[in-house]
Amino acid sequence: MMTALWLVVVSALGAGAQPPGKTSNMTDAALGKRLYEARCQACHGADGKGSAAFAKDVGAYSPDSLDLTKPRVQELDDAALARRIEAGHGKMKGFHGKLSSKELAQIAAYLRLIGRARAGGAARAGR
Ligand code: HEC
Repeated sequence: MMTALWLVVVSALGAGAQPPGKTSNMTDAALGKRLYEARCQACHGADGKGSAAFAKDVGAYSPDSLDLTKPRVQELDDAALARRIEAGHGKMKGFHGKLSSKELAQIAAYLRLIGRARAGGAARAGR
């Protein structure tokens, strides 16, 4: 009798579990935020948009080089984005050997989030 009751309880718990995809995406972006703050924010800014003045100072390709929310960056697929961070880009040294592929994926997930925030708040003139 007790055994049958346990089976019911255990299977009910199983059915109520979170869909794995959703949960792990949330976690990736949250972990990516922490990595971003520690490894990227000093140059790319809290909002991911960097500053044109800093881009000019370091001799970057263009004034919007540091903006990670712009379409040219957001249009890269996850693998290409991770490769760009890992290999480096122009004046930015790569993070090869400093970030694992898992950490790169977590940062990419976070960059998507701040990219979407920009798309949502769209059409700020001059950006
Ligand atoms: C020491 C400053 C610095 C740090 C730290 C830094 N970056 Fe950069 N990053 C730059 C600069 C400068 C450029 C522009 C390079 C150029 O145009 O020559 C750049 C460019 C990029 C680009 C390419 C943008 C484009 O237009 O294609 C990506 C993506 C990027 N950074 C992501 C990151 C991520 C993610 C991190 C943290 C893991 C990070 N960066 C940390 C300075 C930095």
